[in-house]
Amino acid sequence: MRGRGLHFHFHLWLALLFALITASFGISVKNQSVRCIAAERRALLDFKKGLIGYDNSLNLLVSWTSKEEECCKWKGVGCDNTTGHVVMLDLRPRITYGIFGGSWTAISGVIGTSLLELKHLSHLDLSLNHFYQIPDFIGSLSDLTYLNLSSNPLTGFIPLQLGNLSRLVYLDLSTDDINQSLISDNLEWLSHLSSLQLLKISCTNFTKATNWLQVIQSHPSLSVIHFGYCDFAEVDPSSLVHFNSSNSLSVLHLIWSSSLHPSTFPLLLNISRNLVELDLHHNQLSSLIPDSFDNMPALERINFELNSLEGGIPKSLGNLCHLKELNLRDNKLSGPLTFAVKNLSGCANDSLEVLKLDFNHFNGSLPSFVPFSSLRELDVGSNQLSGHFEDNFGDFSKLNVLNLDENGFTGPLPDLLRLSSLRELYLRGNRFEGLLPVNIGKLSQLVLLDVSDNSLHDVISEAHLFNLTKLREFEIVRRPVEQMSWR
Ligand SMILES: *[C@@H]1O[C@H](CO)[C@@H](O)[C@H](O)[C@H]1NC(C)=O
Ligand SMILES: *[C@@H]1O[C@H](CO)[C@@H](O)[C@H](O)[C@H]1NC(C)=O
Ligand SMILES: *[C@@H]1O[C@H](CO)[C@@H](O)[C@H](O)[C@H]1NC(C)=O
Ligand SMILES: *[C@@H]1O[C@H](CO)[C@@H](O)[C@H](O)[C@H]1NC(C)=O
Ligand SMILES: *[C@@H]1O[C@H](CO)[C@@H](O)[C@H](O)[C@H]1NC(C)=O
Ligand SMILES: *[C@@H]1O[C@H](CO)[C@@H](O)[C@H](O)[C@H]1NC(C)=O
Ligand SMILES: *[C@@H]1O[C@H](CO)[C@@H](O)[C@H](O)[C@H]1NC(C)=O
Ligand SMILES: *[C@@H]1O[C@H](CO)[C@@H](O)[C@H](O)[C@H]1NC(C)=O
Ligand SMILES: *[C@@H]1O[C@H](CO)[C@@H](O)[C@H](O)[C@H]1NC(C)=O
Ligand SMILES: *[C@@H]1O[C@H](CO)[C@@H](O)[C@H](O)[C@H]1NC(C)=O
Ligand SMILES: *[C@@H]1O[C@H](CO)[C@@H](O)[C@H](O)[C@H]1NC(C)=O
Ligand SMILES: *[C@@H]1O[C@H](CO)[C@@H](O)[C@H](O)[C@H]1NC(C)=O
Repeated sequence: MRGRGLHFHFHLWLALLFALITASFGISVKNQSVRCIAAERRALLDFKKGLIGYDNSLNLLVSWTSKEEECCKWKGVGCDNTTGHVVMLDLRPRITYGIFGGSWTAISGVIGTSLLELKHLSHLDLSLNHFYQIPDFIGSLSDLTYLNLSSNPLTGFIPLQLGNLSRLVYLDLSTDDINQSLISDNLEWLSHLSSLQLLKISCTNFTKATNWLQVIQSHPSLSVIHFGYCDFAEVDPSSLVHFNSSNSLSVLHLIWSSSLHPSTFPLLLNISRNLVELDLHHNQLSSLIPDSFDNMPALERINFELNSLEGGIPKSLGNLCHLKELNLRDNKLSGPLTFAVKNLSGCANDSLEVLKLDFNHFNGSLPSFVPFSSLRELDVGSNQLSGHFEDNFGDFSKLNVLNLDENGFTGPLPDLLRLSSLRELYLRGNRFEGLLPVNIGKLSQLVLLDVSDNSLHDVISEAHLFNLTKLREFEIVRRPVEQMSWR
């Protein structure tokens, strides 16, 4: 759990932006004619007493006063239309904009047991605040379907009592705050959440929870799981079901873990036949990519970026008929790119849209990408490729991004006319020579063109650039502009 400072700020801002957008549309279930129930009103006022930061005028809790009888009108409170019971508490901080930008105040303090009076509470959102503990009693709010404690500096054990929330559909304990550090020694509680569909957890130490993968694999309802910055125990393969694992899991993100055991990687590839998205980026994986994608025929998106994976691209990846995005950037993959691409061309021919293979050790010449007729983005930059840049892209009218940066390509540039949708073209750091093809001027969608650090003639005419009305960045040589000749 290190080095995440920048990341944290970026995500916090995204989260705040999201909060702002949803807040401005409102998700309350108010009905003016419904009167709130006196006991629940008292409970809310009691709950407010345990909090710190509510008296700030920017905070929505200022609307919770004994003067206003109708607690269903208080900000962040939602009541059932007909019964008047409080069913929703949404205490995400609201952002107020002033001349110095946005400001908001998070609340902190104690999540008080008076919440237990709200017997029909189904939606509890305390995200983006400063609570430090997940209280055990939350497990007794038996009507909860939505619990969001994300982006709080939570510490301590995840209470086993959460396992009592049999109606819970969404559980979000994720954060980018390096100060969160939760522990769960056993994931048994998760298997009792029989309605749970979405689980997001980060910065949690699962190193004693040897059953974590087994619980996920046998879970009846989970369809989306995000684990970020967590530590995991090694998995005993014999604890897993080794036949046709057909659970509901369709999205698995398990990212930024430094403790994923090498033997766990192949097990993850057998986790569910229904998996659509598998994101394992930044996990220090250092093996071959297992050749067992046949067990996940529904896969559409794979991200193994930023690991140390070795070897080539296994053939079974090409058998995935729905594969749209394959990101293997920043690994140690090697071998002739031609063979790797041949391995990929199969059922994935028509579906593949994004292929990122940059920052690896692939070598040999640039293969033909003709089979991949739907390709929108192709990155093979920063490998050890050589030879000529042949025009072997077929009729690639959908290609938007082509990156051949930092390889050993030589010879003239081909006529690029058929790449009519190209928006970004990166050719920097090769040994291309000759003139920049005039037809580049016909790639009218071009926004970014980088041909610097090559041996190209610096001759640029009006025809090259006149019609490139969208071009925002153009690099041809890394040297002062005076030395370039314009005609
Ligand atoms: C939880 O809250 C955060 C911040 O308000 C939000 O970005 C996220 O989408 C919420 N999680 C779920 C599952 O709704
Ligand atoms: C109030 O209840 C009625 C009937 O149950 C429902 O149609 C309506 O959408 C509810 N209003 C709100 C704001 O939830
Ligand atoms: C509010 O609730 C009352 C009583 O149940 C119902 O008659 C009325 O239609 C509701 N109004 C709205 C706007 O949902
Ligand atoms: C809630 O869970 C705890 C721990 O798992 C258990 O001891 C307790 O009996 C449960 N309570 C209810 C009301 O189910
Ligand atoms: C993390 O905790 C430290 C000290 O406990 C505090 O100074 C820092 O502001 C906290 N960081 C965040 C992002 O809350
Ligand atoms: C996780 O918890 C175990 C004890 O349960 C501890 O030994 C280990 O150091 C913790 N790991 C991290 C990264 O905090
Ligand atoms: C595995 O699942 C597939 C698709 O659901 C099915 O066709 C096949 O018969 C199953 N095999 C076994 C051994 O259950
Ligand atoms: C994955 O499951 C298949 C059966 O579908 C099994 O043959 C294979 O050994 C499993 N792979 C691993 C790594 O467990
Ligand atoms: C092609 O696939 C085979 C079988 O999966 C594998 O052994 C080989 O390394 C792959 N070659 C490349 C260059 O990816
Ligand atoms: C994919 O493209 C390759 C190369 O053109 C071809 O040999 C193969 O038959 C194609 N596979 C499918 C399933 O279309
Ligand atoms: C590619 O690299 C391998 C070693 O990984 C080497 O044996 C082979 O000769 C290289 N091929 C080319 C064309 O450079
Ligand atoms: C720009 O495009 C127009 C229309 O396609 C064409 O007539 C004109 O010759 C082009 N100009 C240059 C300098 O290529």
